[in-house]
Amino acid sequence: MTTGTSPQDFAKRLDKTAEDTEALLASLLSDTLLPDEIARPRRVMEAMRYSSLGGGKRLRPFLVVESSTVFGVAREAALLAGAALECIHCYSLIHDDLPAMDNSELRRGRPTLHKKYDDATAILAGDGLLTLAFDIITRDEIHSDPTVRLLLTRALARASGIGGMVGGQMLDLAGEGRFGDREPVDVARLQQMKTGALLRYGCIAGAILGQATTQEYQALDDYGRALGEAFQIADDLLDVEGDAAALGKQTGQDAALGKTTFVTQLGIAGAKQRVSDLLGKADAALSIFGARGDVLRAAARFVAERKN
Ligand code: IPE
Ligand code: IPE
Ligand code: MG
Ligand code: MG
Ligand code: MG
Repeated sequence: MTTGTSPQDFAKRLDKTAEDTEALLASLLSDTLLPDEIARPRRVMEAMRYSSLGGGKRLRPFLVVESSTVFGVAREAALLAGAALECIHCYSLIHDDLPAMDNSELRRGRPTLHKKYDDATAILAGDGLLTLAFDIITRDEIHSDPTVRLLLTRALARASGIGGMVGGQMLDLAGEGRFGDREPVDVARLQQMKTGALLRYGCIAGAILGQATTQEYQALDDYGRALGEAFQIADDLLDVEGDAAALGKQTGQDAALGKTTFVTQLGIAGAKQRVSDLLGKADAALSIFGARGDVLRAAARFVAERKN
């Protein structure tokens, strides 16, 4: 068995990347000005730190690091790309929690940002993290070849934007019927966009950084899609069956908001079956990597079995 694939080893490995990501984000979110910056106002900086530091599984940076490891990419470069992705993720959570969206009060075991500060600060902190992500992903330290940096940056924009997370959030809200008549919801597409796109990015980032072959890229792409869908179904199951204290966020919110998910469409057993099918797909996609894919295989199991 490859190191990092037993449940204990996997947990340690995830913790190590979480720690490294935390340290990196803390330095990226310091008050020190970068060239061309004029000032970093205290309130927005504190709000950005509140929502990005001291919590979260850091699964997305972990996927960047582990998909990079498959190709022997330097850990520092992968961590930097992972930090950029985590900034986008944290921004998406801040905005997702706003009263105008899911109206949530608890995130990562603490009051949501708009509860702790105010809506305007939460909007701006989200905007700040979104733009910081693109500052980070374009940095020279990520890769010596500017074309690789460009490909990474473009892929991040597409995963985050209208054809990815932002578009998926729009479909999620429309699916509640809040903009008019409820229309049938394509849950697979919605989830592929709102959650899957950023997780998939974590998986293909290693292939881009490692200048993988087309076949290797495709394998990580397939793996990332399966993992992304499984992740959101697990989240929807946890919203019904999970423990709010372990999750650090409220449960029962999807039903209260009238969200359409695979749990509402397939029932609990059906949704669990779909997660298990997706786990099989994720596994199969990694076959070309042999033992080099073992940690990513364990990551898919973690996603399916997680309790928070
Ligand atoms: C929560 O993501 C939001 C979804 C996309 C479902 P995570 O469960 O990865 O949240 P953190 O980062 O660990 O808090
Ligand atoms: C959030 O999905 C997805 C994004 C933030 C893009 P959810 O609304 O299900 O996430 P939670 O349950 O609030 O973490
Ligand atoms: Mg939401
Ligand atoms: Mg939400
Ligand atoms: Mg949820």
